[in-house]
Amino acid sequence: MSKISFHHAGGAVDILDVDPGTSVMRAAVTNGIAGIIGECGGQAMCATCHVYVRPEYLGGLPEISDDEDEMLDCTIDPRDESRSRLGCQVTLGNGLDELEVDVPSSQV
Ligand code: FES
Repeated sequence: MSKISFHHAGGAVDILDVDPGTSVMRAAVTNGIAGIIGECGGQAMCATCHVYVRPEYLGGLPEISDDEDEMLDCTIDPRDESRSRLGCQVTLGNGLDELEVDVPSSQV
């Protein structure tokens, strides 16, 4: 199993154990994590799965594709050039067995 922690404004944290191959967005939506919507179902077309990856995990992330990069310019909360990712484009497993993200205050 892989572990992902969702840090919310105010200090609450949701911690999930998920199967490798699960995206951050899918883990959140399946488990009812507040603040992650995933409106387009993971096609990098909505930006409602925006998360801020905690700095200590940035080195284990996949490269940002052109589609993700373009969509990250459409987030409601400001894009952080180093930490913002689309949760649907980051998948646990394959060397990324633990991840912590901050959930933006708004997605729509
Ligand atoms: Fe729509 Fe990630 S779910 S961009």
